[in-house]
Amino acid sequence: MATDAQTGPTGPRDDRKSAALAAEKVRPRPGARVITGFAPTREALRSSPNLRQAGLDNDTANGDPQFASVFFLDGEQHKRRRTAIARFFTPKAISSRHRLVMEATTDRLLDELRSTGRGRLDQLSFELAVAVAAEIVGLGDNPTSALSRRVSAIMIGTKLPGLPRLVRPFATALAAAQVGRFFLRDVRPAIARRRAEPQEDVISHLIEEGYPDKAILMECMTYAGAGMVTTREFIVMAAWHLFDNEPLRQRFVTGAEPDQFAILEELLRLEPVASLLYRQAEEAIALSSGPVIEGELLALDVRTANLDESSVGECPLAIDPDRAEKAGVVGAFLSFGDGSHRCPGAQVALTETRVFLDRLLRVPGIRLAQAPTMKWNPALESYELRQAVVTCDRR
Ligand code: HEM
Repeated sequence: MATDAQTGPTGPRDDRKSAALAAEKVRPRPGARVITGFAPTREALRSSPNLRQAGLDNDTANGDPQFASVFFLDGEQHKRRRTAIARFFTPKAISSRHRLVMEATTDRLLDELRSTGRGRLDQLSFELAVAVAAEIVGLGDNPTSALSRRVSAIMIGTKLPGLPRLVRPFATALAAAQVGRFFLRDVRPAIARRRAEPQEDVISHLIEEGYPDKAILMECMTYAGAGMVTTREFIVMAAWHLFDNEPLRQRFVTGAEPDQFAILEELLRLEPVASLLYRQAEEAIALSSGPVIEGELLALDVRTANLDESSVGECPLAIDPDRAEKAGVVGAFLSFGDGSHRCPGAQVALTETRVFLDRLLRVPGIRLAQAPTMKWNPALESYELRQAVVTCDRR
């Protein structure tokens, strides 16, 4: 059956790959009121500090909120922290420092790929994401492959909610042991080195602010989850779309950088890595979508908000890289959040994805030999793409 740009064989064109799994797996936390629609979701995200971060466990170091992770800070303290770390994420920092890491790591990974003719996309993308975030955080002293393995191991903690009750105590102990290993091998030596000689990175900044070691560990874990794991998933998802969609792939490889960014942002709009963001009301507030009572938990449905036709334009389920320009908004819509907690690493993530995919798709004979299998991470409310295999001509 003939199809056009807006219609598929069975109705409106739907280009999403993670939608069916998300529909089955996204489960708001008990008691949470779900907010949908672009404008109400964005308004809630912009209502900090009245609405406070309520995602993940707020495990502050020694229970002292003064040393909380940036993720859980709010109000003035949060503003100060974001201002202090903003220098690691400026366009200049990206083009002068981080881009060197992105390019050197990409070239090394693709060199290895070309020597064997075969590689796991999720492993390649994770090494890249770890190398880039590690440099920002100050964890880049150890070899990236070993650090990636330890970061991957600590993420077992995010699987705990989905495990059968009987194995949970064992898995909790294992997760604690992995965190201990990460601390001893990576975080503690990095702190010691930076106490002796401060660098331009997050750990040096936290030392300057008097953060105890445990709080620095918590912040490193925030960056592992927020910066390394998210980017791994997105790179594989974007690659999968580009391998599967020849016109889009052609546009990507022949396009200038702004067009490549537009394609990636549109893919992230359709396939947000974090499906739900949580906020809790400090006190009763009135939003235009209705009143929120004190203590109420809100689940902000980013996935649905990004499909709101009144804000994102027509055919919201279809890939249209020109959409954001037409709508006059930021391309990824709410996939990097909004308001004061909006992802500081957004441009870093998009740039490393662009650099990596631009070079990957030019590797002679490159093809996706095995599409990824998709699983769900209930703690991160996110898809996980594994076992994606790419092959290429051997050098
Ligand atoms: C495609 C990749 C990425 C996605 C989809 C993503 C998504 C997000 C989202 C949605 C938030 C807001 C959470 C909320 O408001 O509840 C966030 C926050 C954050 N992200 Fe990212 N992120 C990505 C990459 C990165 C990178 C590369 C870094 C750093 C190297 C990073 C560091 C952070 C930090 C530190 C926060 C907390 C900010 C705060 O609470 O003030 N992220 N991210």
